[in-house]
Amino acid sequence: MARMTLTFPDEFLWGTATAAHQVEGGNWNNDWWAFEHRPGTPCAEPSGDACDQWHRYPEDVALLAALGFGAYRFSVEWSRIEPEEGEFSTAALDHYRRVIACCRDHGLVPVVTFHHFTTPRWAAAGECWSDPVTAERFARFCERAVAALGAEIGMACTINEPNIVATLGYFLAAFPPGVSDVDRYQRANDTLIRAHRLAYEALKAGPGDFPVGLSLSMAEFVAEPGGEEHMRRVRHTMEDIYLEAVRGDDFVGVQTYSRMRFGPDSPVPLGPAEGVPVLQMGYEYWPQALEATIRRAVEVSGCPIHVTENGIGTADDRQRIAYVTEALTGVRRCLDDGLDVRSYFYWSLLDNFEWALGYMPTFGLIAVDRVTQRRAVKPSAAWLGQVARTGRLDPAPGVSGG
Ligand code: BGC
Repeated sequence: MARMTLTFPDEFLWGTATAAHQVEGGNWNNDWWAFEHRPGTPCAEPSGDACDQWHRYPEDVALLAALGFGAYRFSVEWSRIEPEEGEFSTAALDHYRRVIACCRDHGLVPVVTFHHFTTPRWAAAGECWSDPVTAERFARFCERAVAALGAEIGMACTINEPNIVATLGYFLAAFPPGVSDVDRYQRANDTLIRAHRLAYEALKAGPGDFPVGLSLSMAEFVAEPGGEEHMRRVRHTMEDIYLEAVRGDDFVGVQTYSRMRFGPDSPVPLGPAEGVPVLQMGYEYWPQALEATIRRAVEVSGCPIHVTENGIGTADDRQRIAYVTEALTGVRRCLDDGLDVRSYFYWSLLDNFEWALGYMPTFGLIAVDRVTQRRAVKPSAAWLGQVARTGRLDPAPGVSGG
């Protein structure tokens, strides 16, 4: 069937996303930096200067706006704002105030994430997210940060992918604190949910009037014959408890990259299926997962949806365009069915520090020279900027997933 040009509503928001630790550089005062330098962790390399966005944000924001996007999602670094318990840095808050003002000056909606995987060393010194006290500490941080920044914020995410913080940190030992302990895993999920609820209240009570939500890591869950029970159990802990906890919020942020398949013999997901291309991250090229997860997020949470992350780590920029075209076609189908989907944020603006995998995976619309920090705009950036500017998506001719 010939594919036609698709159009998106005028008010649909187009943006890109980053996170402080992955782009700012020099965030030595958080648990991730410590983890990167701890012998025996799975980290490929330290984050170091990252993309030096701490200093180069004016250039990045200007580039993003010039490309045609309407929003920038970034995170504020808790360990810079509250470097020791109860000591708040006015200078760090002023810095983020300038970043937000810079977005506004360029006509971009500033979307602020208050926790994107990193926790200050002082707060991580004990049991971190498996101790309920961390929820109170995080809420207090949000209260102070929003008091300084709230007036100009356009939209806020409380916690980025709390389900990944819990699963990778407390069960799979691939994120800090690097433990595998079912009891702590359970408590981490509980604390993160409570932290979201307290942060939601704190952000709503502060200055400004902007939508607040949680960003959740989602995957299309697929059960091979006999794998239904495993699939349901994993999906319950990784998605459902969060989607149920956000009911009534302004929105839920859907963040999707691929699918997870489950077979009868093991509770862990199966590897990539034969014939499906495998990406730098080790998972399958599966752009149709976005549509599936939006539908599920609506069904379970009942919330309006923002796609706060979707993207692909690949060295092949044509594959990136093909992936996003397919993913956006799914978003359009959701809109056609009357689902309330309000935005699409591509992950990521820049090639950046991909956590334990270091700088190998390249998700960016813009490449970054690791020595000179020079930015180089990829063809996909101009392409997606054009989609953002016009609200029109043409099928990508002759490009396939493989
Ligand atoms: C995270 C990002 C990460 C991206 C690509 C999401 O899980 O929020 O920090 O870089 O996926 O793996």
